[in-house]
Amino acid sequence: MERAYYVTTPIYYISGNPHIGHAYTTVVADVLARTARTIGPAFFLTGTDEHGQKVANAAAAAGKTPQTWCDELVPRWQSLFAAYHVAYDDFIRTTQQRHEHVVQRVFSALRERGDVYLGTYEGWYCVADETFWLESKLVAGKCPTCGRDVQWLSEDDWFFALSKYAPRLIEHYRAHPDWVRPQSVYNEMMALLEEGLEDFSISRSTFDWGIPIPDGSGVIYVWFDALLNYITAIGWSVDDARFHRFWPARVQLVGKEIARFHTLVWPAVLWALGEEAPEIVFAHGWITVEGQKMGKSLGNAVDPFALADRFGADSLRYFLLREAPFGSDFSYSDTKIAQRHNSDLGNDFGNLVHRTLSMLQRYCGGIVPPAGEAPVLERFAGLPLRVRNATLDLRFRESLEAIWELVTALNRTIEERKPWTLHKEERKRELDALLYELCEGIRRLAVLLHPVMPERMEELWQRLGAGTPIGQAWEDAFAQRIAPGTLTTLREPLFPRIDPAEE
Ligand code: MSP
Repeated sequence: MERAYYVTTPIYYISGNPHIGHAYTTVVADVLARTARTIGPAFFLTGTDEHGQKVANAAAAAGKTPQTWCDELVPRWQSLFAAYHVAYDDFIRTTQQRHEHVVQRVFSALRERGDVYLGTYEGWYCVADETFWLESKLVAGKCPTCGRDVQWLSEDDWFFALSKYAPRLIEHYRAHPDWVRPQSVYNEMMALLEEGLEDFSISRSTFDWGIPIPDGSGVIYVWFDALLNYITAIGWSVDDARFHRFWPARVQLVGKEIARFHTLVWPAVLWALGEEAPEIVFAHGWITVEGQKMGKSLGNAVDPFALADRFGADSLRYFLLREAPFGSDFSYSDTKIAQRHNSDLGNDFGNLVHRTLSMLQRYCGGIVPPAGEAPVLERFAGLPLRVRNATLDLRFRESLEAIWELVTALNRTIEERKPWTLHKEERKRELDALLYELCEGIRRLAVLLHPVMPERMEELWQRLGAGTPIGQAWEDAFAQRIAPGTLTTLREPLFPRIDPAEE
């Protein structure tokens, strides 16, 4: 069985409603999975992180049991992803039995091996981030990530023997300098490793919203529970053949604030279980508002549903991938989204489509004419490979810039070859060849842009009267070409103009 391209997002805390930051990582994973599916099997996992004090507190504040709270919120998250045209293969909830049972099995297995042992924990804890902090890491006595107060905890806890894995981690980092990306995060993690790692507590006894510790008291620490979702979802210890079809994951996407858990703790847990580390952990940057990470707790979160209504989800998907090199922070602004929408999608791409289909109506009754020479398309024959390589290497901006070279070239060829003059001078063969080239060109653009804007591109294929080559290798989709005689339809613009000033 062929190994599948396995891509994951963090599982999201359902302590409140989702915001555009959550949509961001999930959309990126969707673009990767859709692109990977054109060359082989892929599996895309997302889900919700439902245990821990933070979720329990949110439920209590709403006067609900944590389970009822989670059950009520999960559909909201799933509808967010649907609204953003995300096609995940599986959605894991950490309160599902398939997860809880296996987490308990992991705990017992590691206890038998001595990698999980009983000790006393004393130290600082940030509830909002569900994170323990060394005193030396606190900033003015507060949590270094979110700036909130931390609590002093003292309890008998189960520990994970992380320090034991430090030498192997260092070795792994040196042997695989690309396994943590971007480079800045790799360097930061390497520096932490060189400072030394401590064993850490993986149980809690002060509250009970978590997976019960097998044959003991207390619950498993939410992060230990959560990280395991990546392997419980694909059948670890339940269906070995399935597990090995997916693991090690090709790419695990996370925001940079949780890189530590994914690149220092997670590989050690996997090694303790006799499994391999993921191939790549990519810790991307933040969507910021006035320099601060957008988030529910800072009260600066943007409602992703309202945003999708205003701009269209596909336009936002484009914006999120195009705006900044993947890995960097970028600041949120409605005006910037509107500008990108109007210039790239409305003007460059949308006009190309609209002009082509209108000329086809005017000069050929909407019917695709016979093909002739197609110099622009010939020049861009290598585009599928270039775009695929950039996308699967997580260089989304470059990938879109490469596609836009074809958009620009097709717009330019209209200006240079002037179909209106060809029509007036009755140079039918040349006009046919040009219109054919434009139709086939926009069909190819729809192929390459489908992972980023699936709904709009499917609409475009329909207008072109062309088949929908979803999941087909791009080279094959290119080779098929649109058939002369196909009836096309002219409709309203694909990306109607948006007034940037409108609130
Ligand atoms: N539950 C943990 C993750 C466990 S994974 C085993 C968690 N959840 S979270 O709800 O806080 O989601 C964090 C993730 O959401 C980030 O790592 C990132 O992927 C995404 N983002 C949340 N806010 C974001 C921004 N402002 N900008 C970019 N991504 C954002 O941490």
